[in-house]
Amino acid sequence: MIQRVFVIICLFPLNQAALPLVINTWNFENAANAAWSALQKGGSVLDAVERGCSQCELEQCDGSVGFGGSPDERGETTLDAMIMNGDTMEVGAVADLRRVKNAVGVARAVMEHTEHTFIVGESVVKKQQLCSVPDQSVNESISLFCIFILQNVFPDPSKSCGPYKPKAKLWKPKNPNGNFDPSSHDTIGMIAIGKNGQVAAATSTNGATHKIPGRVGDSPVAGAGAYADSTAGGAAATGDGDIMMRFLPSFLAVDFMRNGAQPTVACKTAISRIKKYYPNFFGAIICANTTGGYGAACNKRPGFSQFPFMVVNPQTNQSQLQKVDCF
Ligand SMILES: *[C@@H]1O[C@H](CO)[C@@H](O)[C@H](O)[C@H]1NC(C)=O
Ligand SMILES: *[C@@H]1O[C@H](CO)[C@@H](O)[C@H](O)[C@H]1NC(C)=O
Ligand SMILES: *[C@@H]1O[C@H](CO)[C@@H](O)[C@H](O)[C@H]1NC(C)=O
Repeated sequence: MIQRVFVIICLFPLNQAALPLVINTWNFENAANAAWSALQKGGSVLDAVERGCSQCELEQCDGSVGFGGSPDERGETTLDAMIMNGDTMEVGAVADLRRVKNAVGVARAVMEHTEHTFIVGESVVKKQQLCSVPDQSVNESISLFCIFILQNVFPDPSKSCGPYKPKAKLWKPKNPNGNFDPSSHDTIGMIAIGKNGQVAAATSTNGATHKIPGRVGDSPVAGAGAYADSTAGGAAATGDGDIMMRFLPSFLAVDFMRNGAQPTVACKTAISRIKKYYPNFFGAIICANTTGGYGAACNKRPGFSQFPFMVVNPQTNQSQLQKVDCF
């Protein structure tokens, strides 16, 4: 009993709603910090989630993999990513992306510089050949660079279906074999809520989990991997994507919040929906509403009883690792 009271006292101040807010799946602290720093510098919530997920792409987000020494990808490592603007309900998504590191940057370029929502595989590579380079000097300018590339091909993408060629040779990969670590399996999902309640969400993953070539998981699918709606909130999911994507848990959670559910309840209800059919599925979800309230939930199974996530808001004023008990 004493222990329980102590926990409540400790957690309460951390769970206060405050804006702006950045929240992301897993203990990806640098991603949270990168997103927060984008907001502090006056960036939009879209900038924040893009920067945050890019940081994870850079680090492989397993804490141990740097750029040096990764094996040749031989075209077998693919990335999936998506980004969603909760003000306009625009989505940019990419899947089966090869030879590109900054997948979320390309997803954003798809959202902002094409009329499309979801582009997969070879077509993305061809269309953005120069953008899709293995890159070890990725930094903040890379996605701007990608956008620049999209606008610098001929024939004009708005008038012709291609094939596209670059107008000028702008970029040369330093290492044509890439620097990707296929053993990294993590997915990041991130939500940012702006000072005025604007919502953005993004995900990025490398789909290297012994998959059949061509398999796409939940991460790049709007409503499954993440969802953002500035009139309701945002959510992002992680886990067994093949199962989770059948339930659109991120859409579901946001819709529960629209109907008045607190973020924690919305997250739990979305997980419960899946649990009903797949009691042993591996998965978790984070939820945030437009006033900065947030929560998370996960499905309890052997070896997975707590789900870590990162939170930054003016109350914490630095990225803070939080954990939710699975149920
Ligand atoms: C980021 O990229 C730009 C353009 O390639 C370059 O000028 C800048 O020095 C890079 N910054 C870092 C920190 O690598
Ligand atoms: C958002 O969530 C917080 C914390 O659960 C809650 O206090 C607040 O009323 C919610 N805001 C809205 C708009 O529902
Ligand atoms: C948050 O932290 C930054 C730098 O660490 C500091 O400048 C700022 O005053 C802090 N804000 C609050 C509200 O504590």
